[in-house]
Amino acid sequence: MSVKIREIDHEDLNFMLTIENDKSNWKYGINKTALSLEDASDYIKESKLMILNNDNQRFVIEYNNTKAGLIDLYDYQFQNSLAKVGIIVLKKFRGKGIGDKSLKLLLKLCKNYLNINYLESEIEKYNQPSINLFVNNNFKNISGNKYVHKAI
Ligand SMILES: CC(C)(COP(=O)(O)OP(=O)(O)OC[C@H]1O[C@@H](n2cnc3c(N)ncnc32)[C@H](O)[C@@H]1OP(=O)(O)O)[C@@H](O)C(=O)NCCC(=O)NCCS
Repeated sequence: MSVKIREIDHEDLNFMLTIENDKSNWKYGINKTALSLEDASDYIKESKLMILNNDNQRFVIEYNNTKAGLIDLYDYQFQNSLAKVGIIVLKKFRGKGIGDKSLKLLLKLCKNYLNINYLESEIEKYNQPSINLFVNNNFKNISGNKYVHKAI
């Protein structure tokens, strides 16, 4: 199985819009309102500035060279070496280890290249697949919906 994460690009605009504008995804907190073509295009432009010049960076998850989801860093705080992380894997690709591999790749990137040592995720109590995914990757529940990972 080949899983990669790569920087989002303008050719991913429609892919991103399909995910963002799928109302069944809104409950996971990735986005809660419809995103226009213009907003999505601006978002990609900003994301390409890299997180150190911006406060978010988005990556496309590829499974055997097919786009399978998105993983992103947002609310980056330089002083605290901290960012939040969000992930979504398309339904048809779930349960194959893609989320796990993508999160591991992002953790490595944060530690080795971005100097981000703390990652946070906000996960609803009913979202057991996501809780399992993050807890398996050493995120600890510190309060309510908040899970934190510290690079070691
Ligand atoms: C959470 C999500 C990203 C997991 O992606 P995935 O590719 O299916 O995950 P994996 O196949 O790598 O599985 C990772 C772990 O998740 C858990 N998991 C996956 N599917 C599950 C399910 N249907 N029920 C319970 N646990 C599940 C398992 O514990 C698994 O680890 P294990 O195989 O060692 O037991 C995916 O379900 C998703 O996109 N959900 C909707 C969006 C979302 O909730 N995002 C997170 C917001 S905080």
